[in-house]
Amino acid sequence: MIKAKPDVEALTPYVAPLEGRRSLLRLDFNESTVGPSPAVVDAIRNLPADAYATYPEYAGLNEAFAATLGVAVKHVEAFNGVDAAIRAIFDAYGERGGAFLTTVPTFGYYEPCARQQGMVIDEVPYLDDLKYPLAAITRRLEARPRLFFICNPNNPTGTLMTSRAIVALARAAPETLVVVDELYVAFTGQSVVPAALELSNVVTLQSLSKAAGLAAVRLGFAVGHPTIIDRLRRVTGPYDINMFAVVAGKAALADPDHMQRYVAEVLAARTWTCGELERLGVRCSAEGGNYMLVWPPGDCEGVVQALRARGILVRSMARKPVIDGSFRLTIGTVAHMQRFMTAFSAVIDREVHA
Ligand SMILES: Cc1ncc(COP(=O)(O)O)c(C=O)c1O
Repeated sequence: MIKAKPDVEALTPYVAPLEGRRSLLRLDFNESTVGPSPAVVDAIRNLPADAYATYPEYAGLNEAFAATLGVAVKHVEAFNGVDAAIRAIFDAYGERGGAFLTTVPTFGYYEPCARQQGMVIDEVPYLDDLKYPLAAITRRLEARPRLFFICNPNNPTGTLMTSRAIVALARAAPETLVVVDELYVAFTGQSVVPAALELSNVVTLQSLSKAAGLAAVRLGFAVGHPTIIDRLRRVTGPYDINMFAVVAGKAALADPDHMQRYVAEVLAARTWTCGELERLGVRCSAEGGNYMLVWPPGDCEGVVQALRARGILVRSMARKPVIDGSFRLTIGTVAHMQRFMTAFSAVIDREVHA
């Protein structure tokens, strides 16, 4: 058997438990619980057959996203989901033996991308109260790592950094490419984009997967200095984004009200859910994003399985540093969270009295 590159032979694949979820209440992957604007579904339904047979055309897509941000189009490039943008960043900037600085726990796809490039991984844990480990990161940046990722707000801890703090870190490390993953920016309204656009060492990532409800379609964007955008284009295939994503993305961006209504609903549901959990005496943490961490009484894995048996999916954080014993709960509409709370109350009642 021909061996792959040594870094690939040594790699543990990033596998997400995504099968068989459609019939359940999906509060495990931070997707939208209501789906995209109806205009997206109409736009896809109305496509003629020849649209399927033609290689995709991209005119207007980057322009539409740039217009929503209020930036020039030279700062923007679309990708087949932010995952593909992350991959392109490592392909373009990752170097064998170079340092990749990040925090832990954080989004799980960064690490395999760094390993594939043979990078040396330096993961700094969040503080016990889930605050950002700013002092330790500031010290580590003095060693000039090649790549530094800030997930803001962080998935799964929700930890949110100010733009001012991020820009200060980037300015202190001009030889480090600073990647700000803003996948959940719709729920925080806090983006580093306006402050960081002209910095030649910062790139920001945003996606239509979550608040816009297009996770299956796969469309994300990198926003940053034109030179970085150009280097990312160089390592991306000419048709990596499919035509459905282009059509869906344009339709979603043309209906910002749909997303804004959903974000408002999620924020109200988050406040309601936190209040209910506090009333039950259950620890939770919900700083940013459409998700929160919940520490159930008793055996967390048992609670996750019992919720599944009641048709509700949440993501166990068992064995993750700093947040072991919790699960991540996606926030949906108030009605969805009411359904969750009814099931959760019954499950922990059984756990407590077991
Ligand atoms: C922090 C973070 N970054 C990136 C991604 C991937 O986003 P996309 O669906 O655009 O590939 C996710 C998905 O869950 C995420 O949570």
